[in-house]
Amino acid sequence: MRVLFIGDVVGSPGRAGLARAMPGIRERHGPDLVIANGENSAGGLGITEKTARELFDAGVDVITTGNHVYRHRDAYEFLDRSDRVIRPANYMTGNPGRGSTVVTVADRRVAVVNLSGSVQLRVARSPFPEADAIVDRLSGEADAVIVDFHAEVTSEKIAMGWHLDGRVAAVLGTHTHVPTADARVLPGGTAFISDVGMTGSRAGVIGVRREQALESFRTQMPVKFDTADEDVWVNAVLVDVRDDGLADSIEQVLVPAQQP
Ligand SMILES: [Fe+2]
Ligand SMILES: [Fe+2]
Repeated sequence: MRVLFIGDVVGSPGRAGLARAMPGIRERHGPDLVIANGENSAGGLGITEKTARELFDAGVDVITTGNHVYRHRDAYEFLDRSDRVIRPANYMTGNPGRGSTVVTVADRRVAVVNLSGSVQLRVARSPFPEADAIVDRLSGEADAVIVDFHAEVTSEKIAMGWHLDGRVAAVLGTHTHVPTADARVLPGGTAFISDVGMTGSRAGVIGVRREQALESFRTQMPVKFDTADEDVWVNAVLVDVRDDGLADSIEQVLVPAQQP
């Protein structure tokens, strides 16, 4: 089974670029399951039912999120209702949405789990014991587990890779919007990358218009940020998952979304 995992889709340029690029990616790589991080899909911050629908229409099966998930209040009811959009499991228990979901693809039950790092990000519980509890709970419910670890620092991400090595198919880092060069299958059989990257404009600063980001850095004054829209690229990884629920390979997909 082949899983395509797409890094944070940023704003309408990211959504439109993904929709343009997906037919070619699908033809070339033939994924059985497509997962995308959608935490920046609505105006660069957050997610709404409409932006989630656009990602589904582009061919995404499951959407993960992260620290921007609760930006749009009108999405809370949708997060509670949808079993295809998840948020970090180690947020407050009563918060909208769920932390994992199980989908059936190619006759296999695949769990997708979302966790947030605790370094420089706010969480209710440490992601490490949370991961243990979720993996234990899913052992009878899923044949393979894919984890989106939405975290800021590479040390915590690499630690999570080792923590779950041999117990899940993949630990895939998101949140920094910059793809890292460390994709590999760990010795126990877990595919790992510190960060998948983003699907959005490469002409800006991690998704923001570069002149605004530069003004903010130069002046240290408040600046209104808009989503950058030129030179959109798709950053993703492909993970081949064996019948035993562990990974055979992980390969980066870093491709320009052709212009409209
Ligand atoms: Fe993000
Ligand atoms: Fe984030």
